Amino acid sequence: MSKETVVSGIRSTGNLHLGNYFGALKNFLKMQHEYNCFFFIADYHSLTTHPVPSDLHANVKQVLVEYLACGIDPEVCTIYIQSDLPETAELYLLLGMNAYVGELERSTTFKEKVRKHPDNVNAGLLTYPVLMAADILIHRAAKVPVGKDQEQHLEFARFNRMYKQDLFPEPVAFNYGTQLVKIPGLDGAGKMGKSEGEGNAVFLSDAPDAIRKKVMRAVTDGGPTVENQPKPEAIQNIFKLMEVVSSADTLKHFEDLYNTMKIRYGDMKKQLAEDMIIFTAPLREKILSIASDESYIHKVATQGAEKARESASKTISEARRLIGFRHF
Ligand code: TRP
Repeated sequence: MSKETVVSGIRSTGNLHLGNYFGALKNFLKMQHEYNCFFFIADYHSLTTHPVPSDLHANVKQVLVEYLACGIDPEVCTIYIQSDLPETAELYLLLGMNAYVGELERSTTFKEKVRKHPDNVNAGLLTYPVLMAADILIHRAAKVPVGKDQEQHLEFARFNRMYKQDLFPEPVAFNYGTQLVKIPGLDGAGKMGKSEGEGNAVFLSDAPDAIRKKVMRAVTDGGPTVENQPKPEAIQNIFKLMEVVSSADTLKHFEDLYNTMKIRYGDMKKQLAEDMIIFTAPLREKILSIASDESYIHKVATQGAEKARESASKTISEARRLIGFRHF
């Protein structure tokens, strides 16, 4: 039986952090062996924020290197750069003719962007889910691992109603159930993210001292005042981070201290920082070594683009035929 196709992308907006690792990459590592996986670097999508050319290139390289360092294996799955597959842009154009502005305007992420950056409401932001649909449908993916905040975008990938033929499967959001963890940031509220401000995210490539500095500055409070007190968000966040990088014993040790009101957050953060360093050290080493191997990077990107194009060109020619574009 042939394997189901899975497509997922990460925007190339900078270094990957622990939230990307535990929220997405860790799942990819498993999925690559069970599905026909396409993982790509969404550099077209990154244009909505207008990066300068040298930053754009450096960011794409960084994400590619970090995917590889984490164990995404180009011999097992297909890793490619979105802009190496212009078929995606063509499908985006075709799908755009059937994407309704009213629906696009109702997207939660779009509304959020408008609220946060009223001076940069470009058309790319509005049609962001259409491009995402093109990414998915170009390989006729059945399953799409995405975070909760991206699930709504998948609704735009249900395009079959257009041409009454099953060119595209209806993709579904997919993850390994409870294994998908939301990783909180260090600023006391919400998830880990680059855009949440300096110091909120721990990057896989961070040097030990940078990690120590960030973790020691993490938001805490005055400590529990009664035994077994429910944890406020900022404290829950520190525990959640410890849960993913530290041993079960360590976690239990600090849980007990918290419940008996003996906890000292300084000690807990010191331990957390050291465990994060132990976790990221081998990744950081691989990141540095792959980043200096230009010929390997070139080979991976070139082969990935070739494999991706094989699948994409079939879809695009069929879509063209269905729509009515024929050669004379
Ligand atoms: N929008 C996704 C994000 O911001 C990245 C992305 C682009 C994507 N195209 C996709 C994810 C297709 C899954 C499938 O995280």
